[in-house]
Amino acid sequence: MKYPVLGVNIDHVATLRQARGVGYPDVVDAAKICEESDIFCITAHLREDRRHIQDSDIYELKKSIRTRLNMEMAIAPDVVKIALEVNPYMVTIVPEKREELTTEGGLNLSLLKDDLKNVIASFDKKGIIVSLFIEPNEEDLVIVKELGVPYVEFHTGSYANSYGKDGETYELERLYTAAREAVKLGINVNAGHGLTTENVGPILSMEGLKEINIGHSIISRSVFVGLHEAVEEMLKAIDNK
Ligand code: PXP
Repeated sequence: MKYPVLGVNIDHVATLRQARGVGYPDVVDAAKICEESDIFCITAHLREDRRHIQDSDIYELKKSIRTRLNMEMAIAPDVVKIALEVNPYMVTIVPEKREELTTEGGLNLSLLKDDLKNVIASFDKKGIIVSLFIEPNEEDLVIVKELGVPYVEFHTGSYANSYGKDGETYELERLYTAAREAVKLGINVNAGHGLTTENVGPILSMEGLKEINIGHSIISRSVFVGLHEAVEEMLKAIDNK
């Protein structure tokens, strides 16, 4: 497999549907269009407030897609229960704040370490791969190693916000350094948040990068060119053809 691979996050197809409380656009139909391209997985975030993806979407996606389901989630007990029932390929554990527009930062691992242990053990028992969404820093990687988790997803939001501005080099350096450290520790590296065809290029130089999860920019672009073409454009940008 040529890395990095692409996971398409389809949350915002559901955002459009929930805006009207109707049955369309259908997230499974969207996932199937994404899967006509050479993508690795479909990513969907079942938020505690159910603002976009609903429980039934997760069950339907697992039943209907032919690639893999990466389920993003906080460790809310009802969501953990659904994940254990659905048995996705991977769970990416993220922090959630109800008032946030989107996931605003990585997990606070020193605070959550003990709560995470049981949840990770229950996923391990089912053979579900666990990934922790974290800020690119070495202290968190040490905790990830301690927890025995095989994957991290580095939050690229600060880099995305700094793209083309003064802070860009600093943010990239943080990502590059953390990725090198993760590889040294034997932890697999994923990345995501705020990535676009324009800003994804420098991310590709992160050492050991396995998977990139991208949602908002692909779904936004699909309004103009269609979902198939929007996914193809992103694959071209990460040159995974
Ligand atoms: N990765 C994680 C862990 C996320 O929480 C999100 C947003 O749900 C994404 C990737 C995708 O971010 P974006 O929609 O900005 O591409």
